Amino acid sequence: TIGNSTNIFWHKCIVEKSDRQQLLGQKGCVIWITGLSGSGKSTLACALSRGLHARGKLTYILDGDNVRHGLNSDLGFKAEDRAENIRRIGEVAKLFSDAGVICIASLISPYRKDRDACRALLPEGDFIEVFMDVPLQVCETRDPKGLYKLARAGKIKGFTGVDDPYEPPLNPEIVLHQQGGMSDSATNLAEIVISYLERKG
Ligand code: PPS
Repeated sequence: TIGNSTNIFWHKCIVEKSDRQQLLGQKGCVIWITGLSGSGKSTLACALSRGLHARGKLTYILDGDNVRHGLNSDLGFKAEDRAENIRRIGEVAKLFSDAGVICIASLISPYRKDRDACRALLPEGDFIEVFMDVPLQVCETRDPKGLYKLARAGKIKGFTGVDDPYEPPLNPEIVLHQQGGMSDSATNLAEIVISYLERKG
């Protein structure tokens, strides 16, 4: 029995992960970008995708906000919905990675347990957690969508960082600090991640 299904069997195919990797000339992995709203996750995801694409690497972005327009449009922001949002994105990211793609997941993913469960889906080393370590105050000053303002006014309930928790990763592969200076441009931050990927082969 798997979850709620019984009498199901794994079907193996002749074309394997290693064959796909050979065809693409790259190894799939998941780059999981976590952080507060307004911490620059989506901007980094785009810069990273651009940088890798320019180097001839196939990437695909799973952005929380975007996936919530389709696959996860049935989910809201209460704890179990966020957990399910993270679980589904983790499973889809695993499929992309298995297909040989460098999958960039960018979502708040506020709960450590849920992120760790996604990590556990992948082979060791294939889940690269990137923590956007940007102080709440900086995110709130940026407030690109005006959501912090609404949350402080009580017009959005359960907003991450305001009245819903964010649990920072304990052992992320990469921590990016951002205070808003020029040297923190998304392109520069993306280069830090790309250097890490190059170092790890
Ligand atoms: S989560 O927590 O991982 O399931 O969230 P995610 O899928 O990344 O979606 C976050 C974006 O949804 C908007 N939004 C909220 N964020 C946090 N808390 C509440 N209550 C909320 N309601 C709506 C917000 O635009 C987030 O976008 P980002 O890109 O993070 O700024």
